[in-house]
Amino acid sequence: MEIKKVCVIGGGLMGRQIGLCAAIHGYDVTVYDKVPEVEEKVVAWENEYLAGRIAKGKMTQEQVDETKKRFAVNQDLKASASDADLIIEAIVEIYDAKASLFKELSAVIKPTAIVATNSSYMVSSLFKDCFTDPSRLLNCHFYNPALVMKFVEVVQGPHTDPACAEAVMDFCKKIGKAPIWMKKEISGFAANRLVGVLNAEARYLVQNGYLTPQEVDMACELGLGHPMGPFRLMDLTGVDLTYDLMRPAVEAGQPKPDCYDLIESMVKEGKLGRKSGHGFYDYE
Ligand code: NAI
Repeated sequence: MEIKKVCVIGGGLMGRQIGLCAAIHGYDVTVYDKVPEVEEKVVAWENEYLAGRIAKGKMTQEQVDETKKRFAVNQDLKASASDADLIIEAIVEIYDAKASLFKELSAVIKPTAIVATNSSYMVSSLFKDCFTDPSRLLNCHFYNPALVMKFVEVVQGPHTDPACAEAVMDFCKKIGKAPIWMKKEISGFAANRLVGVLNAEARYLVQNGYLTPQEVDMACELGLGHPMGPFRLMDLTGVDLTYDLMRPAVEAGQPKPDCYDLIESMVKEGKLGRKSGHGFYDYE
């Protein structure tokens, strides 16, 4: 089960980093995104990132040239995915969007292709009916920034062929990651479940007027020695991502989690965190 060609679907915050990381480590990568402007943005970002690697002495000009040859971006799903050995889905964290993409994808991939979702919380078995052969479907969850963070969760569902999980573990190691192999799936996997408990308490303290978001971050960063407090981390991962994660339960009639209204108003004002220049902190 050799992986040579990789297709990443979604060229946003995560997809472009996962794709470039794989290209740097020798894989042929195509990033597919349905939004036309993304191609130009990813290429500009790629050029800036790789120029920075040369400036810092981390890569040579030759390595950068080779990486660029292996990294492509386009807007044609079939052209991007049909010859890929591994497809990593990294589109928005919305169930219906992922399910409809997977149905489209299942018609164009080769029978031996492995499909991995980078979803932050959704287990792959939620999507098994989108594929004729779900034994090649699993989770492969990277952390942000994926070019830097080593930890990855490879999560096998009851439908997953363990050989596929093993092949994805091997791929992760070859691109410089330190993956864990979860042989029993659970929503949120490992690290997001652990941090979820801290985040819920952080939002409780803000919602009930005990602390500001910035003070919560100070407690975590200066008191507990965490590299980033929960609100600074939300700015990094995208305030809209947190909103997308909370919204389905609220829309289904469940009580609003703490800080839901604050997060909703920030998304409506375009305060999405670092990517928009403003969030709980200003970046411009
Ligand atoms: P993002 O919003 O930055 O990027 C999503 C990209 O997908 C956009 O460029 C959008 O145009 C594209 N897209 C949407 N629907 C599409 C479709 N049907 N076909 C092709 N492209 C489509 O999102 P982000 O933050 O990169 O997250 C992607 C996934 O990674 C989500 O499932 C998220 O939960 C997960 N994730 C996010 C992390 C983070 O820190 N932001 C960390 C780990 C996982």
